[in-house]
Amino acid sequence: MNLHDKPFDETTIIKLKLFEDYAQAWIPTFVMQGYLKEIHIFDFFAGTGYDLNGIAGSPIRLIEKIIEQRGNIFQKKISIILHLNEFDKNKYELLVSSSSKKFKEENGIEHYVQLKFYNEDFETLFPRLFPIIKDFPSLVYLDQNGVKFLSGQYLKKLEETKQTDFLYFASSSYIRRFGELKEFKMHLSNIDVEQLKNTDYNKVHRNLTEQLRKNISSTSKLKLYPFSLKKNTNIYGVIFGATHVRAVEKFLNLTWKYNGLNGDANFDIDNESSLIQFDLFEGQKLNKVESFKQIVKEKILNQEIKTNHQLLNFVYENGHIGKHAEECMKEMKKAKLISYKSKSPCVTYDSVFKKKIIVNYEKI
Ligand SMILES: C[S@@+](CC[C@H](N)C(=O)[O-])C[C@H]1O[C@@H](n2cnc3c(N)ncnc32)[C@H](O)[C@@H]1O
Repeated sequence: MNLHDKPFDETTIIKLKLFEDYAQAWIPTFVMQGYLKEIHIFDFFAGTGYDLNGIAGSPIRLIEKIIEQRGNIFQKKISIILHLNEFDKNKYELLVSSSSKKFKEENGIEHYVQLKFYNEDFETLFPRLFPIIKDFPSLVYLDQNGVKFLSGQYLKKLEETKQTDFLYFASSSYIRRFGELKEFKMHLSNIDVEQLKNTDYNKVHRNLTEQLRKNISSTSKLKLYPFSLKKNTNIYGVIFGATHVRAVEKFLNLTWKYNGLNGDANFDIDNESSLIQFDLFEGQKLNKVESFKQIVKEKILNQEIKTNHQLLNFVYENGHIGKHAEECMKEMKKAKLISYKSKSPCVTYDSVFKKKIIVNYEKI
């Protein structure tokens, strides 16, 4: 049975929502720059368009997100090229008819959006389209069924890009279970299966992402972030990749909105609900955000971090959002541990990277 013989399950819907929300954040970022002529979106494993119950899949959601931005796209005279690929012949035909129908519902859309369809194996299509991915601002979706295409050869290519954001899907717990098989080993020589097996089962997708991070060359600016998804006993996940801080900020803002407890899973990955109970011997344990604030506090007090620039970079490196550090700085100011001259500690993307405001934190 394949995915489109049945309705999308709850986890798939969360994944699709993440894909769609990221597109919603990504499209205006490039459209509003005003000087770009074209930007590209690739859905390499596009499916049929809808599930059995008529719930929209990734290609339809992408078309909807583009249509939402039509005013700005027209005004800025930019073209969006949406590349949709599906290998299975029957699914491909459904994809073409459902996406074309959705596309035609919007009058005049052909003036600013081009739809390109492919019925090819990702293995041959990716290298062919790679020059476009590399040359233009691109958003790449890799919603594969298993894990095969997470292999080093594709990640190495994506590492070369400078204005590409990508979202990979991976059935992470499958590698833990079947990783010793020849079929897996052949494709995923970049993954240490033993290490995955020794990892807490719930954290297998996090560990997979950490392993892939270690393979990134030291000269590359590529950053990877996981979002784990639990479905029954399986752990899946999305791996987000980008080289630009603005992209990282957008992705982390989304994931922390999805889950304010841990920001990287659709479930209680660190078992934090148990922390609410007071531990008689160890006292109150800290949750993920509180522990992070504690680390920030130490780094400010020992002056490892002295400015809002250093602080925001530290925030993103650790998969947090500016708000967590801002709260910590305000608390420290109130407690008269530090002082800073501005009204706010300015740990935001806008202050640091756009307005380039520098705030020094002075220890009292
Ligand atoms: C997880 S589904 C994608 C679902 C889609 N994003 C949606 O929202 O409906 C993966 C799709 O990739 C297709 N596929 C499998 N192997 C492929 C390959 N080598 N190249 C391209 N597509 C492939 C499958 O037929 C399947 O429809």
